[in-house]
Amino acid sequence: MTTTERTTGTTLRDIPGDAGPPIIGYTLQFAGGKLTADRTRYDKYGPVSWSRAFGRTWISAQGPEAAGAVLSNRDHAFDSGPGWSFLIGPFFRRGLMLLDGPEHHRHRRIMQEAFTAQRLAGYLEPLNETLAAGIAAWPRTGSLAFYPAIKQVTLDVATRTFMGAQADHEADRLNRAFVDCVQAATAPIRLPIPGLRWHKGLVGRRLLENYLRPQLAEKRAGDGNDLFSALCHARSDEGEAFSDDDVVNHMIFLLMAAHDTSTITLTSMAYYLARNPEWQERCREESFALGTEHVAYDDLDRLVALDLVMKESMRLVVPVPGVIRRANKDTELLGYRVPANTMVTAQLWTVHHLEEFWPDPERFDPGRFSEERREDKVHRNAFMPFGHGVHKCIGMYFGGMEVKAAMHQLLQRYRISVPAGYEMPVDWTSLPRPRDGLPITLHRL
Ligand code: HEM
Repeated sequence: MTTTERTTGTTLRDIPGDAGPPIIGYTLQFAGGKLTADRTRYDKYGPVSWSRAFGRTWISAQGPEAAGAVLSNRDHAFDSGPGWSFLIGPFFRRGLMLLDGPEHHRHRRIMQEAFTAQRLAGYLEPLNETLAAGIAAWPRTGSLAFYPAIKQVTLDVATRTFMGAQADHEADRLNRAFVDCVQAATAPIRLPIPGLRWHKGLVGRRLLENYLRPQLAEKRAGDGNDLFSALCHARSDEGEAFSDDDVVNHMIFLLMAAHDTSTITLTSMAYYLARNPEWQERCREESFALGTEHVAYDDLDRLVALDLVMKESMRLVVPVPGVIRRANKDTELLGYRVPANTMVTAQLWTVHHLEEFWPDPERFDPGRFSEERREDKVHRNAFMPFGHGVHKCIGMYFGGMEVKAAMHQLLQRYRISVPAGYEMPVDWTSLPRPRDGLPITLHRL
């Protein structure tokens, strides 16, 4: 009998699953993102199943009940740090998502101060300016690979709005270092060999640290409206503040957490808006009705159609398709036995694509989030693009603000289209991105 069975007095079932091919198991499918946007295992084994990859056993929690139970973490059995460290540990160490228990709670309470409505409103002005400068560099009319173009813009947001970087060459250098850190997370060879991805990531991390650290004293003394300054000044209700090391670690993690997620959200929104001109027109009309080139913080809620489109795009192409935890003790999941030290993934993609919860799940239908329909309410965990539980995205409103501010500007400048019948091919290797860069046609208004 396991520890859990002794404490709960219940008999737990063994989890169904299979190891996959001998020795390597499902490593290649895992690393290639083949198990992400796919419900084969769910259909075969149900919401909880096991497999082998990277030389260890993984439990996959699919569907709102199982994924929700992992993220609610009622038994305090699933740790985020040891789970995520497997992928991003050396490059994003001691970021908020990699902390657990009372330490995570303490850091989160301090960081919350950098995400109050007042702070967000303060970030919006420089954010709007950076977005405007980025979008102004696009051609007036003609084709544009949307994904790399918007990625450049969101990188500029990260380096300028987050860090307060000024000069172009400075932003370029930081962007490169930061991209190297992100790409290292999915490096197939996880050794510091010069020239390879893992090593570049370590060098990038050092560069970011060396850039941020010397500015701490100035940021602490000043009252800038960038996120870096906000973290330097953040205090919890109990008056606790971040140490210098904390600020640097959190900054580097925040850059990562904010950047790719906003980029893919904007990309999938552009894709669906280009394919659905009636929704594009509706969003544009709303934007023009605001009568301002740059959206103000208090006007964000008035972009109702854009909000529906954002939600539906995040449902269909969920920016973080799965989150990782590791069991810190023997525990249970929907009545199944989970041994200590097992890696567990909560698969958010499956949650958003089950027809049991979402009628006609592959159809782009933003109206399903409207007040009259609220299909997301059919199950409390049916819609989790920002996660759930204590690690739920702290930048949820920041992300929504950035995405809406960018789309508001874009729609007032351009009409966008894709050829009839075009379907965006998504690469799910780490976070989703279009394999072809999403070629769209811009028509200047
Ligand atoms: C559309 C944009 C975004 C999406 C879809 C998204 C998604 C997520 C998800 C799913 C998690 C939970 C991870 C887990 O449970 O392991 C998370 C956590 C987090 N996100 Fe976001 N995110 C977005 C934007 C942002 C932005 C803009 C920031 C910061 C400015 C941010 C900062 C964070 C942080 C710090 C955490 C860790 C929270 C914690 O552990 O307490 N995210 N995000």
